[in-house]
Amino acid sequence: MNRKIIVLDTTLRDGEQVPGAKLNMHQKIEIAQQLKRLNVDIIEAGFPASSQGDFQAVQEIARTFGDSVSITALARAVRTDIDAVYQSIKAAQNPLIHIVLGTSNIHVEKKFNRSKEAVMEMGVEAVKYAKTLLPYVQYSTEDASRSDFEYLWKTIEAVVKAGATMINVPDTVGFAVPDEFGDLIRRINDRLKNLNDKVILSVHCHNDLGLATANTLSAVKNGADKIECTINGLGERAGNASLEEVVMALKVRESSFQAYTEIQTKELLRTSRLVTHLTGLDVQVNKAITGENAFAHSSGIHQDGLLKDKQVYEIMSPEDVGAESMELILTARSGRHAFKNAVEKMGFDTSDNEDFEQLFQKFLTLADAKKEVYDHDVFYLVTSHRTVSDTEKQLYELESFQVVTNDVYPTATVKLRKGSEVLKGSEVGDGPIDALYSVIKALVGMDVQLKDYKINSLSRGKEAIGRVNIRIQYEGKTYSGRAMDTDIIKASANAFLNAVNGALLDDMAKQGSAV
Ligand code: KIV
Ligand code: ZN
Repeated sequence: MNRKIIVLDTTLRDGEQVPGAKLNMHQKIEIAQQLKRLNVDIIEAGFPASSQGDFQAVQEIARTFGDSVSITALARAVRTDIDAVYQSIKAAQNPLIHIVLGTSNIHVEKKFNRSKEAVMEMGVEAVKYAKTLLPYVQYSTEDASRSDFEYLWKTIEAVVKAGATMINVPDTVGFAVPDEFGDLIRRINDRLKNLNDKVILSVHCHNDLGLATANTLSAVKNGADKIECTINGLGERAGNASLEEVVMALKVRESSFQAYTEIQTKELLRTSRLVTHLTGLDVQVNKAITGENAFAHSSGIHQDGLLKDKQVYEIMSPEDVGAESMELILTARSGRHAFKNAVEKMGFDTSDNEDFEQLFQKFLTLADAKKEVYDHDVFYLVTSHRTVSDTEKQLYELESFQVVTNDVYPTATVKLRKGSEVLKGSEVGDGPIDALYSVIKALVGMDVQLKDYKINSLSRGKEAIGRVNIRIQYEGKTYSGRAMDTDIIKASANAFLNAVNGALLDDMAKQGSAV
């Protein structure tokens, strides 16, 4: 009989650690809602001890979705972190405390500067403490793939005896290669099944050598019961194993792995697009499963073969990952039902009737102006509508602007609002965007540096919406900002302000009380 593989999604924890991918509470809730539709078994919702904002987001996710999906959050092996996790996830029906502590020599010696025995004892004490709070505890042996095997096993044995119910073996720095990692999992699995066959063996792979998917699959072949992944492979540095790749490999090659997941694969593309839109981090066009070209066949030979029989060049169909009917064309006459369906298909929640009605009125205004409304336009509507609450927190808003461009003095004049304060100014620059950003920088008085500026067209037609994605550097941290508008100068100004507002929110969160 094929084994069920448990899928933990860590997009909201490891994925959100990507510089510039910071999500606000509404965005995290939208993603969690879509992860629930995708039917992941466990959502890792954040790292509650890291900030008050993260604590609140985890708590909200546990309260909202904890009745139907297991919720976990990360703690270091210290009581204050474990308390923060417990307090934030306890409302869920199946809460799981996730503790991480290094096992490699380099972690033990350089990070902790303690003896191996002392570090192991820290882990055991942490598990014992967590078990006084909740029955389910996962222990991650950070940097396991570079650890001395016997010490790694001694740690696993000790924390299992202390009550850990899941052992997670991370390839933290993406150093492993598939046969070696598979072998490591097989050896641990053999001993673990003898020690306590109820304990679940899990893996968590990073992609520094581009091997995260291959290593995860090799682990499944060698006995792993659970996999940790992220949507679009987001995560520290080169990212984590991509959920869509691992899940589809298990589905397409089920007989080879003799294992399956309960992921609703038809939700994969929608989930990927939602994460792309909310984080502003695009997937490469040739990315497996969810890239724009993943199912595009361009050469004549391939097209000819496909017309004869799809299986000639297709190992899975676009429908399997939800690629059919992604493009929606709505008009002002489409009505509430069609619009609601379109919003939900993109992974957004519509259960708040009052909020939906406001959104529908905005849709009618846009449809009157644009005639044809495409899926990207709907995304624009929903995401801009749902970020309104941030402006209530006294952040910067664009009131009006004028940009004059010529090859002598490109000039921008901008009026901003911050609560009841109005700020006005003009600057010249090397070009229109440089002038625009110079005046905004001067008005907000923050020493930010523009690191990246990208503009794409989001939909077809002459009223196509332009999406601007930018990254700024402020006090050593990267913040991203996105905005969409039919006027690309306005989108550029709003993207910059969104990034600045992100930095301000971060400052506010840091000044808020620590958990
Ligand atoms: O990469 C890692 O080791 C982690 C652990 C917290 C599982 O993210
Ligand atoms: Zn990780």
